[in-house]
Amino acid sequence: MIVLSDPSAFRNECEQARRSQKRVGLVPTMGALHEGHATLIRRAREAADFVAVTIFVNPTQFGPNEDFSRYPRTLDADVEKCTQAGASLVFAPETSAMYPPGDETRVVPGATAGPFCGEFRPGHFQGVATVVSKLFALTGACTAAFGKKDYQQLRVIQRLVTDLFFPVVVLPVPTVRESDGLAMSSRNRYLSETDRRNALAIPRGLSAAHRAFAAGERRASVLTSLVRNPISAVANSIDYVDIADADTLAIARDDAPVSDRSVIAVAARFSGARLIDNVVLGEDPAPIG
Ligand code: PAF
Repeated sequence: MIVLSDPSAFRNECEQARRSQKRVGLVPTMGALHEGHATLIRRAREAADFVAVTIFVNPTQFGPNEDFSRYPRTLDADVEKCTQAGASLVFAPETSAMYPPGDETRVVPGATAGPFCGEFRPGHFQGVATVVSKLFALTGACTAAFGKKDYQQLRVIQRLVTDLFFPVVVLPVPTVRESDGLAMSSRNRYLSETDRRNALAIPRGLSAAHRAFAAGERRASVLTSLVRNPISAVANSIDYVDIADADTLAIARDDAPVSDRSVIAVAARFSGARLIDNVVLGEDPAPIG
């Protein structure tokens, strides 16, 4: 496994792979890799001959009171997981390499970044769009895998690729869940045993909405209540439970009928952790079958 920290060396490896007629795949991550990331790597490997995994805890996407400094950093274990999942290269730069002295350019996403996490994490998607643009610029033409667990991030990045003409094919990868339905996340390791149990209210609520939608329910407030009610009984707080058109992310409220392809998304805090999850109704399976 090649492990690089220098951006120019990373760019050279990607160029060299393309010169050797290899299709290049990219899996951007912040490390603390789990089975969800391994799935991203395996999916990218199906579409590409040379898969680069980037591991970089990106400071610009964290707010001042968020978990940047305590975000888990587990490089050796991550490199091992990348090897097992079939990656060809790991790019793990220092912050000073991605944001060298004098760096000042930021990529500002539009309306897609407005609702959901955009409301509760100001600047978050600007940080994501900026670092992903840097990674795309270094990698060049590639297929890049992103998880549907971060559905809004996926939509922001799809728009970024379209709007800025990046030579990138975005590969959306379905959310990977534990056997009881909890979406895999690097932040699940912050959960106590009790929090972990309580957090199951999220997949239960999303599954209730999934069933109602499949039975023909289209009122926004009814679908969101099915998710909100079980979570509000056990979470410390809820940032949002909202439903939106799955393409535009325009939120539907009250009794407004939702689109036939709608994303219902939640962010809730369980003492140690802020968890997010979603289901694209009309497309994804229920989290709990
Ligand atoms: O999803 C993530 O892990 C991050 O937001 C990403 C896309 C690697 C950008 O830092």
